[in-house]
Amino acid sequence: MIEIRRVNFSYWDKQILKDVSFVVDDGEMVVVMGPSGSGKSTILRLILGLECPHSGQVLIDGQNVCVMKEKEKQQIRKKIGMVFQDGALFDSMTVGENVGYYLLENSRLRWEEIADRAAEMLGFVGLDPNEVGDKLPEELSGGMRRRVAIGRALLSTNPRAMLYDEPTTGLDPNATQNVLGLITKLHQEKGIASIVVTHQIADALNIADRFVVIYDGEVAFDGDQDTLRACQDARVKDFLLPFRESFERVARKKFIGLEQG
Ligand SMILES: Nc1ncnc2c1ncn2[C@@H]1O[C@H](COP(=O)(O)OP(=O)(O)OP(=O)(O)O)[C@@H](O)[C@H]1O
Ligand SMILES: [Mg+2]
Repeated sequence: MIEIRRVNFSYWDKQILKDVSFVVDDGEMVVVMGPSGSGKSTILRLILGLECPHSGQVLIDGQNVCVMKEKEKQQIRKKIGMVFQDGALFDSMTVGENVGYYLLENSRLRWEEIADRAAEMLGFVGLDPNEVGDKLPEELSGGMRRRVAIGRALLSTNPRAMLYDEPTTGLDPNATQNVLGLITKLHQEKGIASIVVTHQIADALNIADRFVVIYDGEVAFDGDQDTLRACQDARVKDFLLPFRESFERVARKKFIGLEQG
């Protein structure tokens, strides 16, 4: 569904992405990891057509995003929902208005109907609409805000794919598990293809079975968990070093599960 093909990208004279290629099929869950500044968010921006590669292509269902007119790009953004790194909610709107924002702007539905849909969506993402619907984003916890952002993306579009930029950064373990549970639910129940950018490798290991490691603008790894653990690429080993322990823990848990199963 999403193909990044030999993409090079620079900001002015600084090359950010170097010959990056990978494919995400319909319904697939892929985790993109890598050090800060390695180019992960830039890749998501390219997929949405917010930036264009200097060479190479970004293809959505076989169509090159960068030669599209603005209208066609908007169609692409209906297929692909994005949850930005900071949640990016509108501060001065209530939670309900945030979730219903797209319908408010782009449909002829009456506010009552939109409010109903927003409330339903809040329920879906695990929030009580009666409790949070009329609150401002600043009154919610970080984890709740992240859920609101996911709900807004879902109601905006009816996405076949979702892009999540560090959806659990800054959340406590409990809220992290909640948000990851929601991402997994969307992937499993609705078959939504998902790209999750994260630094938190323990989380990554629990939700996905395919990993792409970006290092200094290059794809240093693309493959499954076992291959990742055995990977001898110095850049990948360097990135994984601080996470060795969580890696082993998750692997052990899986192994015990296998034995008991
Ligand atoms: N608008 C911009 N103008 C110039 N340089 C930028 C811009 N946005 C990002 N960069 C640079 O591009 C590089 C990649 O940034 P990007 O945000 O993709 O990294 P990242 O992997 O998402 O990092 P993080 O994990 O910290 O979010 C960084 O060196 C950053 O400084
Ligand atoms: Mg980023």
